[in-house]
Amino acid sequence: KRINWDPISAEKQGYKHFMLKEIHEQPERITDTLRGRVSVDRGDVDFGPMEGIEDGWLDTLERIVFVACGTSYYAAQIAKYIIEDFSRVPVDVELASEFRYRNPIINERTLCVPMSQSGETADTLAAMRLAMELGAKTIAVCNVVESTMTREADGVIYTHAGPEIGVASTKAFSTQLVVGLMLGVWLGRRRGVLDEEGGREILEALRDVPQTMSKMLHEKAIYKHIAYNFSDVNSFLYLGRGNLYPIAAEGALKLKEISYIHAEGYAAGEMKHGPIALIDESLPVVVLIPKNRVYEKVFSNLEEVKARQGRLIVVATEGDDDVREFADVVLEIPDVPEYIQPLLTVVVMQLLAYHIADFKGTDVDQPRNLAKSVTVE
Ligand code: G6P
Repeated sequence: KRINWDPISAEKQGYKHFMLKEIHEQPERITDTLRGRVSVDRGDVDFGPMEGIEDGWLDTLERIVFVACGTSYYAAQIAKYIIEDFSRVPVDVELASEFRYRNPIINERTLCVPMSQSGETADTLAAMRLAMELGAKTIAVCNVVESTMTREADGVIYTHAGPEIGVASTKAFSTQLVVGLMLGVWLGRRRGVLDEEGGREILEALRDVPQTMSKMLHEKAIYKHIAYNFSDVNSFLYLGRGNLYPIAAEGALKLKEISYIHAEGYAAGEMKHGPIALIDESLPVVVLIPKNRVYEKVFSNLEEVKARQGRLIVVATEGDDDVREFADVVLEIPDVPEYIQPLLTVVVMQLLAYHIADFKGTDVDQPRNLAKSVTVE
């Protein structure tokens, strides 16, 4: 029997696309991100030494500014929710391409965090250099080891996602979210906002993520069903609120990148200020509504969409029967604390985009006009 040896398919390890392989790898890569840094018992995180950041500097820290592009920008937005909540340090998140052409307010008590899979994105590098010129300290959150950003920053936190081949980012994003959570605990403990017990509770929940996520990855039939029924539309609307607003944006980005279907991610509370005008029977609306502090608020969006005959794909907590009255399709995530919800809902976003694109037959791993790393302006 002849065996066809093809190095590319060997690398895909039986998956049809790198993107699908990378989606499935996430539980293991998240374990790598946590490894050696988290002490659940002590309720604390240790990133190891950061050369350019002296002891005691953190006590003077007044503000954090994330700079990032693309998917990394959405991960940074979620980090803002987490860090402000856990440590009470004010956080701004800026598109690097905007930040670098403004006259930003930065000083020696600012921490700038460039967040980047590649560590080579031209705009993010320029934004980081500008912040350093203005006196900020920098801690780069990067995936690629020894990339330009990691060589120039005062400190580095690697995401340890491993090489990401699919142009549409998946595991790089989820590991960035994990670093965001760890940064929140790290700062929260150092600033005296989180005590040992508080840190422990968060880290225990984080430690359970790989296992919980693995279970979600077995689901396939429902995504194929959605792909079959929803691929021939012109546009999708994604709604999320709180720390799931950036996930709605990321879900829409994934869909447009690989399926070429127009999609918009919107803050659910803003629907009434515009997007509601678009809703009719031809518009699928993806609503992220797991049980959390804004559940009731987002529930009213379901009612509003349904009243206008919009088609609803709903992402909800397991066992939530109330949403079923409105939903055309329900995609479930396990019941987890609010700060873990972005990590699980994004997997649903990735699988949704992947299966729609695969059904349409686009080049999932190398979508037209996109580059893995944008090193020019
Ligand atoms: C490109 C990639 C995106 C990525 C963005 C930022 O557009 O296609 O997947 O999110 O650059 O890249 P970075 O390496 O800085 O995270």
